[in-house]
Amino acid sequence: MAMALGSGVMTFLESCAPLPVFRPDGEAAVLKVPKEKFLKSPVVVVRVNWMPYDVLLVKKSESEYKAIYMRCSHEDQILVPSKNGLFCTAHGSTFDLDGNVTKEPALKNLTLYEVQLQNDWIEVNLKKVI
Ligand code: FES
Repeated sequence: MAMALGSGVMTFLESCAPLPVFRPDGEAAVLKVPKEKFLKSPVVVVRVNWMPYDVLLVKKSESEYKAIYMRCSHEDQILVPSKNGLFCTAHGSTFDLDGNVTKEPALKNLTLYEVQLQNDWIEVNLKKVI
C-alpha cells in the first residue's frame, strides 16, 4: 500500500511502525536508493557503513526528496525521528523535516545533502552539502 505524500510523512512518523532501513553496498559517496523503498513509507533511514550517523531520506512529494544527516548540530548526538520531525534525546533540540531548528539549544540547521531524481532511484550525493 502506498502512503500519501505531504502530511503523510508526519502521519507515518506518529505511528509505531519501524522505519525502513536501506544499507547501500560499498563505499561510494553517491548513494543510489531505489524508489521502491518508498512504496510503504515516505521516510527511509539510509545506513552507510562508513558514516558515523544515518541519513534520513524524506519523500516530500513525487518530485522532492530531502536527505538529512541525523547528527544534532548542537553537540553531535544521534537524532531520532519523532512525530514532528527529528528529536535529540541529549538536550531536547528538535528539527523539522527540512532540517531547520524548531527548538533550541541547537542553533544551526541540520546538514542536508544534494538529491537528484533518476528513473528508478534517488541519488544522494554525500560530497555535496546544500
Ligand atoms: S546534542 Fe542535541 S540538543 Fe544537545
